[in-house]
Amino acid sequence: MSIEIPPGLTELLQGYTVEVLRQRPPDLVQFAIQYFTRLKEARTHDDSSSGVKSHVKGVVFDGEPMQTESNGDEEDEEDDDSDFEPPIPQRFGRRVSVCAEAFNPDEDEEDSEPRVVHPKTDEQRSRLQEACRDILLFKTLDQEQISQVLDAMFERRVQTGEHVIDQGDDGDNFYVIERGVYDIFVKRDDKNNCVGKYDNHGSFGELALMYNTPRAATIVATTEGALWGLDRVTFRRLVLKNNAKKRRMYETFIESVPLLKSLEVSERMKIVDVIGMKAYQDGERIITQGDKADCFYIVESGEVKIMMKSKTKADQQDNHEVEIARCICGQYFGELALVTNKPRAASAYAVGEVKCLIMDIQAFERLLGPCKEIMKRNIAHYEEQLVALFGSSMDLRD
Ligand code: CMP
Ligand code: CMP
Repeated sequence: MSIEIPPGLTELLQGYTVEVLRQRPPDLVQFAIQYFTRLKEARTHDDSSSGVKSHVKGVVFDGEPMQTESNGDEEDEEDDDSDFEPPIPQRFGRRVSVCAEAFNPDEDEEDSEPRVVHPKTDEQRSRLQEACRDILLFKTLDQEQISQVLDAMFERRVQTGEHVIDQGDDGDNFYVIERGVYDIFVKRDDKNNCVGKYDNHGSFGELALMYNTPRAATIVATTEGALWGLDRVTFRRLVLKNNAKKRRMYETFIESVPLLKSLEVSERMKIVDVIGMKAYQDGERIITQGDKADCFYIVESGEVKIMMKSKTKADQQDNHEVEIARCICGQYFGELALVTNKPRAASAYAVGEVKCLIMDIQAFERLLGPCKEIMKRNIAHYEEQLVALFGSSMDLRD
């Protein structure tokens, strides 16, 4: 017997599911009542307004959110029904997919577990602190959460050729690299492709723990190395719980970033899950020209000045830099070196107090593939800028 799915049902349920993932309401039934009531009201309104679809508080009813500004500071901003935007299913222009996250931060499913503590010597703790200093997933944890994470981490030494993670396995631990080089392999069409590597810093193994999915890649040590592991339960209790807060803080902002407009809602949510935030003081250097690149930046607030070493011989001697561009809220920088595999083409400095959202190169490769064409188109614009400034052409391509 075949069952016919009524037209519009899939879109209707997708719309509701996306709103649940966006807003994370404590009571799904109550939220459903509100959602569908507002949807009906919006439809009635549309029917009576000469066929012109309405905007309801800042969101156009075609799945494209309007640009909104947020400084991301509203840390403890509670989910508020008044922000709730029911989309009109018939007008979904784009496919909406739902990210496969099984964790509900409102259910303290693992809070009852005893705390994990691996005793450490002072020397071990200071090495661990150094290794964790730039780990983006830890950047939004508070002091108490950081200290619980550090207590729970354990040291793991690895040998050359050792598989730390195998694609397809269940996720047990998240790893922070203290030292060593690790290749990343992803299987496609039965072939293992090396898609990148970690060179003495960074972290891996978060995806299977975040989304309750099998390991998405194989990680092989190509040198002897040292890692710090964090067990699944502690990771989910602290890092994942914090991610729910991060989504509330950054979701609206991420939606307003022009570069990310072409991504699906679920893809933007995954970006929020892995980004870190860093604040800079006036004049602080964010990127240094000539350095190896491992991060991508989006300006969350303030202004960033892009400076390049001057081309004139006299200026080169005293390392004189010329301002070539400014990036403001919602704009990005630091993508060029990642796209071209070259060193940083210029330096970046904070103008006043600045906050940037940061994504590591592995997340950039994994999540921003669809945006790379837009970024590549920018290279011609950069080159024109440099000709106008320095009078000579410069090849910024790979
Ligand atoms: P996880 O799926 O838990 O285990 C393998 C890890 O490899 C994964 O988490 C990420 O941390 C890391 N990784 C790095 N690059 C990729 C990639 N391109 N695709 C999937 N995983 C990747
Ligand atoms: P990246 O080379 O990774 O680091 C410096 C960044 O400055 C670069 O990426 C771009 O994002 C940014 N930038 C802005 N204008 C230019 C320009 N004209 N040439 C090169 N980089 C530029």
